[in-house]
Amino acid sequence: MKSYSLFCVAALCSGAIAADGPKAPTAEAFGKTTDGTAVEVFTLTNTNGIKLRAMTYGAIVLSIETPDRDGKLADIVLGFNTVDEYIKDTPYFGAVVGRYGNRIADGKFSLGGKTYSLATNNENGGIKTALHGGLKGFDKVVWKGEGLLNKDGSQGVKFTYLSKDGEEGYPGNLSLSVTYSLSNKNEWKIQYAATTDKATPVNVTQHSYFNLKGEGNGDILSHELMLAASKYTPVTAALIPTGKLTPVAGTPFDFTKPTAIGGRVKADDEQLKFGGGYDHNWVLDNQGGELALAAKVYEPTTGRTLEVLTTEPGIQFYCGNFLDGTLTGKSGKKYEFRNGFCLETQHYPDSPNQANFPSTILKPGKALKSTTVFRFGSKK
Ligand code: BGC
Repeated sequence: MKSYSLFCVAALCSGAIAADGPKAPTAEAFGKTTDGTAVEVFTLTNTNGIKLRAMTYGAIVLSIETPDRDGKLADIVLGFNTVDEYIKDTPYFGAVVGRYGNRIADGKFSLGGKTYSLATNNENGGIKTALHGGLKGFDKVVWKGEGLLNKDGSQGVKFTYLSKDGEEGYPGNLSLSVTYSLSNKNEWKIQYAATTDKATPVNVTQHSYFNLKGEGNGDILSHELMLAASKYTPVTAALIPTGKLTPVAGTPFDFTKPTAIGGRVKADDEQLKFGGGYDHNWVLDNQGGELALAAKVYEPTTGRTLEVLTTEPGIQFYCGNFLDGTLTGKSGKKYEFRNGFCLETQHYPDSPNQANFPSTILKPGKALKSTTVFRFGSKK
């Protein structure tokens, strides 16, 4: 009897230590895909009450709760409550997109003397292009998920996926991991790593739609945006870059100083007409490959702020021009025109066909490494 109670005390004691200290997040069941594959969700929290949930389907971020200037939490990303809704219809809410994020002209590129054909799953101005990895891109596959406890005590989740040679028309077996961490400095860090056994274009990015007022709380036009970019890549009617790097100065594309997203979005400008608003790649001033500030956003009514840092040379700023109220989000509210914006850190669209753009070709024996940080905050 005596030894039994001693055992109990020890067990309770070690349990208490574990319960108090940080732990790696565990996988929880979150529905199934249409072929019956189980989908899991991981919940990352930090010491300031920020909570980020991500699932193995599409490595999709389901929700991010952050405090406003008064400490009131709201979920600042668009999305749904069930896997089924994501499978049915989503404009890439919260997903990792790839193998090639954004568009490739005519769904074709040449590499090593061979021409590769991809599905043309997108159309603008009557011209078809390949968008975000194809008919079944990385946003529509089930990744393997593993909860992590980082050295600094923060929580993370590592998603891995093997994209097979020929998948969606791309060459080479691409072994990819995307790690999300949520630090106690309120930073959501995303680390991409990939290797291949044949040369292939790779351009992966995170496609969360933010609304710093809280998802479902109207449009994002009063958010003030700064982009650390003095040039952008104008597009054709198909939303394919013309190949030019054009200065933003004196145009509605100049966000070098914080400016309301809605301030000039209706300006009489051919580029804005092509995109139906902002849907362009900005050429970041930092082209050195080290982590640097790319964007800052401030929402005046709640005081929430968002900073984006990246090692990537570009950022696609998309202001939700294709949202039209047909989708109802997780709190039962319709996502209307421009109710969310994306800041997709990336290499430039159509790089495999544009010799003057930084290369997106990953070769065997080389490792792709890319980091992006979304830093959450608020100000009075
Ligand atoms: C593209 C938009 C597209 C959206 C997804 C963005 O990355 O630039 O043109 O409509 O993704 O629906």
